[in-house]
Amino acid sequence: MNNTQTTAHTNIALIKYWGKKDSQLRLPYNDSLSLTLDGYYTTTSTKFIDQADDQIWLNQKPAPLAFATRVQHFLDYVRQLNHSKQAILVQTDNHVPTAAGLASSASGFAALAGSLNYLFQMHLDLKTLSILARHGSGSATRSIFGGFVRWYHGHDDQSSFAEEIDGADQMPLRIISVVFSDQPKKISSTKGMQQAVSTSPFYRTWPTTVQQDLTAMLQAIKQRDLEQIGLIAQNNALAMHALNWTARPAFSYFTMDTIHLLTSLNELRQKGYLAYATIDAGPNVKVLTSTSDAAFVQQYLYQNYPQATTTFLKPGPGIKKTVL
Ligand code: ADP
Ligand code: DP6
Ligand code: CO
Repeated sequence: MNNTQTTAHTNIALIKYWGKKDSQLRLPYNDSLSLTLDGYYTTTSTKFIDQADDQIWLNQKPAPLAFATRVQHFLDYVRQLNHSKQAILVQTDNHVPTAAGLASSASGFAALAGSLNYLFQMHLDLKTLSILARHGSGSATRSIFGGFVRWYHGHDDQSSFAEEIDGADQMPLRIISVVFSDQPKKISSTKGMQQAVSTSPFYRTWPTTVQQDLTAMLQAIKQRDLEQIGLIAQNNALAMHALNWTARPAFSYFTMDTIHLLTSLNELRQKGYLAYATIDAGPNVKVLTSTSDAAFVQQYLYQNYPQATTTFLKPGPGIKKTVL
């Protein structure tokens, strides 16, 4: 049996994906841009089993029903591509909280796509693997690659894929993850973005916001301007969350802790430290900072938010076959 164990890292979007124009194919309305993270990842292995049904294990236990159903749906798609009917055992371990707004769906489906690529001997290149991972979760499209990654929104299955953008390893960029809750969110990303697209009167302004933020972000990356990278990322994240506040019914992933932390970062910046926030679909915050300010910022967060778990992160690598 081939070794199919694959590791993929999560990513944090600096320019967000929030809305699908085709939910079947998971084609987004706009491009997005992320940074792959070193400390949060998923390891997945797969094998064919001689049974009627698939078996899905998460963190050494049978996976919850909703989790298993979504994975099986993806397995069905891959089986269909390969004209197969064989049941599959999936064993996956998340080294990141599951469904808590820390992008487990990104590392999870990237690792699963990578593992199935070996199991079915598909020999997909990285671009095609990113297209395949997109069928599991949009953000997984980007987790195939390391460093800064751009997902081109595309207009059909083959034109919606991700690509690495140079520069992350030369950049003194650090991320501090501040986790207030590792519990599963009440509104999944899939549902949240659907609600924002279909009911927020501001959604029609979102593609223009993203286009402007993306152009500015690409420029800031080229110029290695960390201050600009942080500022653009924070503004874009807040614009995304504003779509949720203006959805009907309105909703938000923020808690009081999230908002309190945003005000603390204002204070840190006034004191001259580089500290900007980006927030995905959950209450937890990723603080963007520099190598020189990271120690102070982390110490400050540790002292002021003793209820949170803080983790120091760096830019991370692309998908890898695990050497057993
Ligand atoms: P998150 O913020 O963690 O990405 P989402 O709501 O986007 O939360 O997605 C959570 C879903 O992603 C889970 O319910 C499950 O369907 C899927 N997922 C998470 N981890 C894995 C994994 N290791 N393998 C396959 N699917 C996963
Ligand atoms: C806020 O990729 O989790 O993290 O495609 O429905 O699985 P599905 O959604 P998902 O959404 C991620 C949303 C985000 C922003 C981002 O990662 O770009
Ligand atoms: Co997700």
